[in-house]
Amino acid sequence: MTTPNVSSEMVNFDTKVAGIDPQSVHQVKLASGALMPIAAFGTFHSDWAQAYMKDATVEAIRLGWRHLDTARAYENEEVVGEAIREAIRRGYLASRDELFITAKLWNGHMRKQDVEPALNSTLSALGVEQVDMYLNHWPWPNVHTPGCAGDHRNPDAVPYIHECFMETWGELVRLKKAGKIVALGTSNHTEADLKLLCRDTDGFSRPVLNQMEMHPLFQQTELRRYMESEGLVCTGYMSLGSPNRPGRDRFKEHRADMLDPLIQAIATNNGISLAKVCLNWAYQRENKAGGYVAMATRTDWILDNLSAATQDFLTPEQMLSISGDGSALHPGIDANNRLIWGQVFLWPEALGDWRVLWNDSQVFETRAAYARFKQSFQDHYQVWQETAVSVPH
Ligand SMILES: NC(=O)c1ccc[n+]([C@@H]2O[C@H](COP(=O)([O-])OP(=O)(O)OC[C@H]3O[C@@H](n4cnc5c(N)ncnc54)[C@H](OP(=O)(O)O)[C@@H]3O)[C@@H](O)[C@H]2O)c1
Repeated sequence: MTTPNVSSEMVNFDTKVAGIDPQSVHQVKLASGALMPIAAFGTFHSDWAQAYMKDATVEAIRLGWRHLDTARAYENEEVVGEAIREAIRRGYLASRDELFITAKLWNGHMRKQDVEPALNSTLSALGVEQVDMYLNHWPWPNVHTPGCAGDHRNPDAVPYIHECFMETWGELVRLKKAGKIVALGTSNHTEADLKLLCRDTDGFSRPVLNQMEMHPLFQQTELRRYMESEGLVCTGYMSLGSPNRPGRDRFKEHRADMLDPLIQAIATNNGISLAKVCLNWAYQRENKAGGYVAMATRTDWILDNLSAATQDFLTPEQMLSISGDGSALHPGIDANNRLIWGQVFLWPEALGDWRVLWNDSQVFETRAAYARFKQSFQDHYQVWQETAVSVPH
């Protein structure tokens, strides 16, 4: 881990600044009946901020955040656990029960026998007996080395195979019955695999939430509406456009949400920050049915990001100008600007096209169905290699 050029502008905690009453932060009711604060403090960051995650999390709790978004993959569950205990020691919380904790099952732990040990290790690292929300982090068990380069490929990677996934999910449901998980959800799942999951689960075993990338330049409105029609709450990550995301997730096609002219004009007009425009839009859109995750390492930003979930800072006209309604008059600013391409998770038959991860063109019900596809793909590929004329460039 490196901490290069970290300045007081990037990390600045000022405990003289007053926080926000957590009760004033909007909550959504999950299908399970539980209430969830819609603003979640993210605990993943580009590598330089790992060293500040404990202080940032304590500061977030002090300022009124009551929902923490964690994951095994962020390699800092112990640090978040220490932050929770420190917040209790300092009197910012009476007990852990005042928090809504989201944790995630990592891809490398999706084999049936690995699920319970993974959850146990998360619970012990966080120092809690149960998590309020446990998300399946990605739809398939494809792993990459932490912090790997963008061109890393795992030859054992596979697409979504429902039969395999239901073995993972069955374990998660068992652990929910055992009281270690209050509610179950998914993350980065797509319409085809969620349709299968919803088809094969009932009230108790059904997911109640999907966390996915959503920000003004990547709104995912259709996918979100489908998920909401199935009773899933949708929360967005990279809600600010993740300006300091790791290099492997930066591509020349990407645009920055906070640099969009409309976002800038609304911020200037309303006298609020660019971040607040993005986050308040996330809060107000789709009848306030969803939520957002955001992280920061400065008191002013941590506070600003939470206050975006307390009241309407955008007018209905401004909301329409960002979201659009499909008409020529109101096109909105969605630019299908996906930041997480997921290329490190690609399986061989995707032929290097990251869109295959998201467009549901390779989703399989059974292992046998995928084996048939794989075989026919290999045969076809071999004939192609043997017969096609190769044009020198
Ligand atoms: N489920 C998943 O697969 C998944 C994937 C990615 C992320 N997540 C979750 O989502 C969280 C957020 O993702 P993210 O951090 O990549 O994206 P983000 O919240 O869109 O961006 C956070 C970055 O924005 C900057 N920032 C924060 N508040 C600001 C403000 N008020 N004004 C200006 N700049 C501000 C911070 O800069 P500094 O760097 O200077 O602090 C920080 O790097 C993660 O921490 C994680 O918990 C989940």
